Amino acid sequence: MKVSIIGQGYVGLTISVFASAVHKVVGFDTNQTIVNQLNRGISHIEGVDSAALAERIADNNFLATSNPKDISDSDIVVIAVPTPLTKDRKPDLSFIEAACQTIGENLKKSAVIINESTSFPGTLRNYIKPLIEKNSVKALSHLYAISPERVDPGRQDFNQKNTPRLYAGLTPEASERTKDFYSSFCDNLVEVSSPEVAESAKLFENTFRQVNIALVNEFAQITHALGISVHETLDAASTKPYGFMKFTPSAGVGGHCIPVDPTYLAATAEELGVPATFIRHANEVNTGMAEYVVQRVIDDNGGSIKGKKVLIVGVAYKPNVADVRETAAELVIDECRARGAEVSWHDDLVKEWHGEKSSNLCDAEISIVITKHDSVAGELIKASAPYVFDTTGKVQGVNKF
Ligand SMILES: NC(=O)c1ccc[n+]([C@@H]2O[C@H](COP(=O)([O-])OP(=O)(O)OC[C@H]3O[C@@H](n4cnc5c(N)ncnc54)[C@H](O)[C@@H]3O)[C@@H](O)[C@H]2O)c1
Repeated sequence: MKVSIIGQGYVGLTISVFASAVHKVVGFDTNQTIVNQLNRGISHIEGVDSAALAERIADNNFLATSNPKDISDSDIVVIAVPTPLTKDRKPDLSFIEAACQTIGENLKKSAVIINESTSFPGTLRNYIKPLIEKNSVKALSHLYAISPERVDPGRQDFNQKNTPRLYAGLTPEASERTKDFYSSFCDNLVEVSSPEVAESAKLFENTFRQVNIALVNEFAQITHALGISVHETLDAASTKPYGFMKFTPSAGVGGHCIPVDPTYLAATAEELGVPATFIRHANEVNTGMAEYVVQRVIDDNGGSIKGKKVLIVGVAYKPNVADVRETAAELVIDECRARGAEVSWHDDLVKEWHGEKSSNLCDAEISIVITKHDSVAGELIKASAPYVFDTTGKVQGVNKF
């Protein structure tokens, strides 16, 4: 089959490499720099192997492009574009809208159009289908389906092949064709009865994580007030072999999914007149962690960090990736600067961010660990400042929640 994948980021490129082992894949992206890099066989995503990409290019099975005409004769079109929040933290479907316009204007034959971008229930039926139809130059009858993405960048044990994948079509034929496509590279497909079930399941998966992270973040504040270790307490609770799942405290949540997707669910809930109390509260607790962490550091340092050299260790939103989207490090840095500290940061994967460069891991008065990459030794972090506060719980012999 000829498969076009709209968006060549974390999701789109990952799918491209798996699908192009079996199909002819066109990776369409509006970012020309990414397109040029991909066509040279260089992956810009952790976990997507440049050697595998180069192999697909050599086999003539993968082409990156920013020319929308290259998608015209596709059998399958997969949408994998961002679905962020607007400045006032509402669902932002502008990238999906642009992708639908590209597909509508350029697809010249009937195809199966599958959405992998995370969005609120009803997006496929009430938004994507009508938009593509509105933009279509020819009256083509496409099939529409959803298959929410579950990729966890940087993860080694689960990938496109062994992670169960949900799917649902708007029609039985759309479901069948979607199954045919994914079963060519994924071992475990789970059909659900409607696109809305698949869309809601994806949002709930990430809301489950958001709420439980908020709960453990609140718990960390309670255990501190009690004068006991949250980590020891969580390890104790984890000895229960059923009905408990361990989450660990942190400076907050980051990335494209956990801080964003629950807000899509909350927006739907509120539109339906259902209060999204847990989601809103979880969001407040998680974003409030930056202030809590900085206050803990201040309390341990004589009541002020004014004029102190504070080093933030790890600004990526999670270990072993260079992704800084929605990172909690940003809130912690803002809070430290608001309290008068002189802030720099160290991250050997991110290297450059907001026009600033990664600093050396030394010479600070206070270090606050937000993310610990495997490449950074705990001993070096410990030696970076006389006072270290580790929000990850992974550095031995320093201050923790
Ligand atoms: N990153 C993850 O771990 C993850 C996991 C599951 C689901 N998702 C969801 O998948 C979707 C994509 O996320 P991502 O992390 O891959 O985003 P990303 O930012 O890494 O990549 C998106 C790519 O789309 C390109 N793009 C933007 N508008 C475009 C357009 N109109 N046409 C073509 N290309 C366009 C961008 O240049 C970028 O390269 C989102 O809805 C996200 O919530 C992400």
